[in-house]
Amino acid sequence: MVQLNIEKSLSFIGKDSLAAYKEQVKAAQEALENGTGLGNDFLGWLHLPSSITEEHLSDLEATAKVLRENCEAVVVAGIGGSYLGARAVIEALSDSFTWLREQKNGPVILFAGHNIGEDYLYELTDYLKDKKFGIINISKSGTTTETALAFRLLREQCERQRGKEEARKVIVAVTDAKKGAARVTADKEGYKTFIIPDNVGGRFSVLTPVGLLPIAVAGYDIRALVAGAAAMEKKCGADVAFEENPAAIYAATRNELYKQGKKIEILVNFNPKLHYVSEWWKQLYGESEGKDGKGIFPAAVDFSTDLHSMGQWIQEGERTIYETVISVDKVNHSLTVPFDAENLDGLNFLAGKHVDEVNKMAELGTQLAHVDGGVPNMRVVIPALTEEAIGSLMYFFERACGISGYLLGVNPFNQPGVEAYKKNMFALLNKPGYEEASKAIQARIK
Ligand code: PA5
Repeated sequence: MVQLNIEKSLSFIGKDSLAAYKEQVKAAQEALENGTGLGNDFLGWLHLPSSITEEHLSDLEATAKVLRENCEAVVVAGIGGSYLGARAVIEALSDSFTWLREQKNGPVILFAGHNIGEDYLYELTDYLKDKKFGIINISKSGTTTETALAFRLLREQCERQRGKEEARKVIVAVTDAKKGAARVTADKEGYKTFIIPDNVGGRFSVLTPVGLLPIAVAGYDIRALVAGAAAMEKKCGADVAFEENPAAIYAATRNELYKQGKKIEILVNFNPKLHYVSEWWKQLYGESEGKDGKGIFPAAVDFSTDLHSMGQWIQEGERTIYETVISVDKVNHSLTVPFDAENLDGLNFLAGKHVDEVNKMAELGTQLAHVDGGVPNMRVVIPALTEEAIGSLMYFFERACGISGYLLGVNPFNQPGVEAYKKNMFALLNKPGYEEASKAIQARIK
């Protein structure tokens, strides 16, 4: 389970300023529990881990089995909240070179619908041209352009290659219960469907079929993921004292740091498999808090890689940042540094040590250097990259995000700002219904 250590932030903000958040956090927790805060129609995620039924998990596993048994590749089509959770979990648990290995145990998982790259889509469809592939089409609204466009291409290809009847067995839709183009198509074609609950927003949806189905298809244990999240649901509950509640402490600490001028939070990992957990976290906090002219900017780096690019800025740039490090206690494999009689690289002082020991010293050395450089630091420690640990990590961040948004005084569950680019794009593309906007935007760019 997640352990939070804020010692190296307390030295910046002081114990008393943190303790002062106790009542505000209590109010935020109550607002979440009682559904009395802003965005209260989107609180379905709050007790999701403890309320997922056996029947639902079995249904997901049965569908995952069909895809695993009938596909060499499965393309997960989705964007934002309908993409990042699944990718974060799958990448955290997968072999780093999975796509280069012969697929013996189930399909390779690919992602689409999260960009409008012609080359990306061409190369994807080209790779799939001699493969038996399936599709999981994920869209809550069912009308998101990026996803719909990718699905149109992939569905046509899947039907052409496998025939309509067989394609129907390996195309699954995860969407709204009633509305949207994805629902209409799925019902018309007779695809297996899973519902995205109305009261769960995209960025909080990893424990709905949005995340669980692709994760199960990738071969991971969704029961353990949910169990990890459920354990954290208990540990972060409204009935847990402020001092012992990691979500409460994280939310309060980051708000106090923000108040004291730390406008940017950098999420740090020392394990490349966590890259997409950071991407997921960026969306969670960015969309939840960046509004009304407020909000900590969520940034992320992969160390030690980015110590050789962003390290200088973090050590000596403008002092408006703090770091939150996700630290993985134990690695899954064992590899030691070999002894070399010639020692031309001078690395014999490391001979016999585990690579992770070197990494851990890089982590500690970096933490101390950055704290010395005026960068407050928090550590979020998980025992290992397992389903259970990732589940607990994700629920921890979700719960803390709800509390943190309320402390900041925003509605953490809406995202009105994401519509602006869509309106312009549709106007520029002359989408029916956008005639006036098209004229206005053409005049602007003349
Ligand atoms: O958090 C959000 O609401 C967004 O990131 C959406 O998840 C994203 O835009 C995809 O939307 P949809 O699932 O409707 O296709």
